[in-house]
Amino acid sequence: MLVVVLSQKEWMHDMEMIRIFGGRPLCGSISCAGMKNAAVAVIFATILTSDRCIIENLPLISDVEVALCILEELGAEVVRLNERTVCIDTEPIATYCVPKDLAGRMRASYYLVGALLGRFGKAQVGIPGGCDFVERPIDQHEKGFAALGVPISVDHGNIVGVGRPMGGVVCFDKVSVGATINTLLAAVCAEGETTLLHAAREPHVVDVARFLNTCGARIYGAGTDTIRVEGVPVLHGGVHAVVPDMIEAGTYLIAAVATGGKVRVTELEPTHLSSLTDLLTHMGANVMIGEKEIEVTGGRRLLGINVETAPYPGFPTDLQPQVGVLLALADGGGTLTEQVWDHRFRYAAELAKLGVRVHVDGNRATFCGGDRLYGAHVRAVDLRAGASLIVAGLAATGETVLTEVAHIHRGYERVLEKLTALGARVE
Ligand code: EPU
Repeated sequence: MLVVVLSQKEWMHDMEMIRIFGGRPLCGSISCAGMKNAAVAVIFATILTSDRCIIENLPLISDVEVALCILEELGAEVVRLNERTVCIDTEPIATYCVPKDLAGRMRASYYLVGALLGRFGKAQVGIPGGCDFVERPIDQHEKGFAALGVPISVDHGNIVGVGRPMGGVVCFDKVSVGATINTLLAAVCAEGETTLLHAAREPHVVDVARFLNTCGARIYGAGTDTIRVEGVPVLHGGVHAVVPDMIEAGTYLIAAVATGGKVRVTELEPTHLSSLTDLLTHMGANVMIGEKEIEVTGGRRLLGINVETAPYPGFPTDLQPQVGVLLALADGGGTLTEQVWDHRFRYAAELAKLGVRVHVDGNRATFCGGDRLYGAHVRAVDLRAGASLIVAGLAATGETVLTEVAHIHRGYERVLEKLTALGARVE
């Protein structure tokens, strides 16, 4: 066992705060890491095969470590081949029960339900943890499993399902990344054919389908809103490289514009960020798009804009808090309308401490714009809130101290190193 695992608590201890000396333009080039939300799903998907899988381009974040740790505690063998590559052998896993303390370590542990149902025809998984910026229902997951003949229920803090999944038709009421991937996991080895209607189209859904197809699954249409799965009796092992993280890349590009700098992010998939590059262009940034890279140059006055989040290919909710900083700086400000999560503006009160004038009303935040930001003590109340506060701290004059940064390390790798490489003063 070569995996070094830090629990969320240890990360919290290890990296308690980030100090940002703002007001310097970010300049330079960094490469994009593998995508958190694809990596964690692919890691749990390896349960569906008893053969070894090699997963490459894993981001160096605590959510990945926690996911690997959960697999190990269930009995899998995980061997680090290099910093970003692991070989996973889930053959020794002999249990379909995931204790609450394990499942509670991260949100994506709900994928264990689909994966264990696919492998054992049984699953008992503690309620997932992770960012709790809003209530996170699982009714669409339930709908997916029920359509495959396996109703799940929540019993004493566990999600429980019993039965071998059979092919079926699911029409989701809401676009849900988690429910789409979870139902896919249960469907790949089901007897018969499954159709998912109103499926999520996010790049991580495509990435998980690509991994499963590498292992012998027959999934068609991932990336569209209709996915068809022909069940296969077993999956074999496979080698898979995780798709680049559009949210990590987008966060650095936004930070470049917020600080009036010039940043190139390489090793990404530019089409995944079309909604952001369109937005930055509208706001007045200069955007250059290459085959595998994007470069943005800020420095001109930013123009206000109104933004609405939406499932992919719409504007990603996971970049909404970061864009809030741009609206605070822009002439005329603008509104952010959150249409994916019921409410995702807990960061607004923290931004206000840095001088941002923002008013939140239900699912809409209105930024006055034209704000001059100054350093303050703020909390990373969740992962993307933390990203937004880093962007704001970089754009602010003076020193910002950000606490509760364990949230940030869940989803952003080596954030201090990357910011330092771009000329930021952070410690
Ligand atoms: N929803 C339901 N019922 C369900 C599932 C979802 O009503 O059964 C609702 C949610 O309440 C939300 C909307 O549907 O309003 C979308 O939820 P979705 O299921 O798509 O979200 P998720 O799969 O739980 C993933 C990411 C999130 C990201 C969303 C949307 C992971 C581990 N998490 O969550 O990432 O915001 O998709 O793109 O993949 C983050 O990285 O910071 C993050 C929160």
